[in-house]
Amino acid sequence: MKLLSDTLDRVKPSPTIAVTNKAQELKAAGHDVIGLGAGEPDFDTPQHIKDAAVVAIAMGKTKYTAVDGIKELKEAVCAKFKRDNKLSYEPNQVSVSSGGKQILYNALMATLNEGDEVVIPAPYWVSYPDMVLLAGGTPVIAQASVQTNYKLTADQLEAAITPNTKWFIFNSPSNPTGAGYTWDELKELTDVLMRHPHVWVMSDDMYEFLAYDGFKFCTPAEVEPRLYDRTLTTNGVSKAYAMTGWRIGYAAGPVELIAAMRKVQSQSTSNPCTISQWAAVEALNGQHDFIADNNEIFVRRRNLVVDMLNAAEGISCPVPEGAFYVYPSISGVIGKTSAGGTKIENDEIFANALLEETGVAVVFGAAFGLSPNFRVSYATSDEALKEACARIQTFCASMTD
Ligand SMILES: Cc1ncc(COP(=O)(O)O)c(C=O)c1O
Repeated sequence: MKLLSDTLDRVKPSPTIAVTNKAQELKAAGHDVIGLGAGEPDFDTPQHIKDAAVVAIAMGKTKYTAVDGIKELKEAVCAKFKRDNKLSYEPNQVSVSSGGKQILYNALMATLNEGDEVVIPAPYWVSYPDMVLLAGGTPVIAQASVQTNYKLTADQLEAAITPNTKWFIFNSPSNPTGAGYTWDELKELTDVLMRHPHVWVMSDDMYEFLAYDGFKFCTPAEVEPRLYDRTLTTNGVSKAYAMTGWRIGYAAGPVELIAAMRKVQSQSTSNPCTISQWAAVEALNGQHDFIADNNEIFVRRRNLVVDMLNAAEGISCPVPEGAFYVYPSISGVIGKTSAGGTKIENDEIFANALLEETGVAVVFGAAFGLSPNFRVSYATSDEALKEACARIQTFCASMTD
């Protein structure tokens, strides 16, 4: 009898974590490496949020809690949805987990049966297809294109839906492209969903607050209130609040779905970290001024990276609306040979050669379902970004046909 389960054979480990690890290993071995792979802000968690955690510890709030979150945090989540998204939820419609990742995983585990399909727009966050596979479902990839700045069109969504579609996963602003859907663009998608009442919507709003140039965030249940009864709106404190390590994500949706997600969590991790939950109460209810300050820095870095990458031979980089990623196309270098003698046949080869020859770590586009591209996370210092982009420019300029 083999040790490992067949389910595990269907999934691959996260390529973004693999790139981060490889960059760290090279760095530890003394190489001059600039990591642009990690999906987390380089800012520290704001002090008032850390203080709330210290107070929670001092007050002995260190025991198990209700499986899917303390009452105070669920109330803070309800207030957040009301304030920011004009969505009304009661605390029994809210679930809190160990990160946005667990929320999505619970929802898929709680609902997917063999043969159920999940429509995922590509480029996608690397974990969506593998989570669907782990939960026993079938990912159906709907390809967006660079012509629409990587946003899915109504026709593309319509073509991907079948009688077996259970979920449509929607993510705006997007990881890996940073693309954000305007109200009108999202309305076109929700109009399609209104024609398919058997399809549920999982909206991953993790990058809601990381939006630039006056971009106005919106979420499906807000744009089309008739989708409210079949939408799970998910979010978390990881990115906007620089709290990736605290592991708190949350969602709101129909009571039956939330209860099923609670059941999954009750037999896996139980409650998310108690101390982190109290910190998240402060994150949601406390002052948010630091988000605008951080966004000023992010937008400056985005502009720097987009400008420098567009100046690199063979690279073309759209300007995204949000998150802290850009997703340049490298179609202009495919088929060329690097100075180190590597023939750039695809984006994985490009990313490996870039790391080996210049010490710049990026994640190749195939990992996100759209090639030939790579993802840059610009959540790092201006100096590191300038140096990394300069190395990418040199790398591209020294290629031969
Ligand atoms: C689109 C998207 N959704 C969800 C998550 C999960 O976030 P968390 O760290 O809260 O699990 C991430 C993290 O990278 C993400 O990029």
